[in-house]
Amino acid sequence: MSELNTIALKIISSGKGILATDESTGTMKKRLESVNVESTENNRLKFRHTLFSSDSMKSCIGGVILYDETIKQEFNSNKIPSIISKTGAVPGIKVDTGAKVLANSTEEKITEGLDGLRERLKVYYSLGARFAKWRGVYIIGNNYPSQIAVTSNAHSLARYAALVQESGMVPIVEPEVLMEGNHSAEICLKKTSEVIKKCYEELILQKVDLTGTILKPNMILPGSSSNQKISTEEIAELTIKCLKESVPSEVPGIAFLSGGQTEIEATKNLNSINKINKLNFIMTYSYGRALQQSALKYWSNNLDDIEGTQKIFNHRANMCSLASKGKWSEQVEKN
Ligand code: 13P
Repeated sequence: MSELNTIALKIISSGKGILATDESTGTMKKRLESVNVESTENNRLKFRHTLFSSDSMKSCIGGVILYDETIKQEFNSNKIPSIISKTGAVPGIKVDTGAKVLANSTEEKITEGLDGLRERLKVYYSLGARFAKWRGVYIIGNNYPSQIAVTSNAHSLARYAALVQESGMVPIVEPEVLMEGNHSAEICLKKTSEVIKKCYEELILQKVDLTGTILKPNMILPGSSSNQKISTEEIAELTIKCLKESVPSEVPGIAFLSGGQTEIEATKNLNSINKINKLNFIMTYSYGRALQQSALKYWSNNLDDIEGTQKIFNHRANMCSLASKGKWSEQVEKN
């Protein structure tokens, strides 16, 4: 087993998943202001440290994705990456610099951040990061995602992944096909498969060791403004069909993003996927909003109640962990 494969498995095995706290300062400002908290450096640290020091870190969280600001912060003179490592979780880092308008297809985006990446990775490794994340983002529409968006983002994801492995870290490959739109789940399946297949074509071309990677895809859902109603079992079937036809078997595991689903939807759908999972991949979570939303809301009204905030986060993390084993139910959710 390669060292990178060992790290990948440590992050996603044994009912564990990833806590995505890599919101950029701009996104975090929106999240905090939506609950009437001022987005200061100290408030961002205080909320995130509350999560990192929760009990469920040890049992439910195998990896934490950090943002550049957070990986360099300290809490009571302890470095954030070492606080995370002590819980048994692996510290990770978002290394893309965001999605920008794509020339010649201006409604679409291309993710940037390759320039100087090799040097930045060295710094992040020395700060304790052992995995990285890069998100390519795609829209669904009549002519979207376009071939330009599909090929350009796959190429960038593969170049990023190759550099991350060269630096001794595991790349999380995140091609996110957004939920926005009135498309059906079948269209989401078709477009997502196309996007993921192209990513693996590029990853293989650029000699990325797939056993030392983790895929972070969207689930297959109807568009957020479509009238289509489908059951959680159908979502699971379509998601598994997509992964079966587009992900090479060497990939050790898949950690879904929540992408705007509610906490319960993201938990329930992951649970359904694992109940019928007949593939060899581990299927777990790499949630941002679906792990943090309720905890953030409570904290915003009770800024000094660390324990109360952690209790809410622990419950959410435990529910996601059960879902990663197909053992979640409405009943355990209520207890
Ligand atoms: P959400 O789970 O909130 O979609 O965030 C995950 C993530 O890292 C998106 O890039």
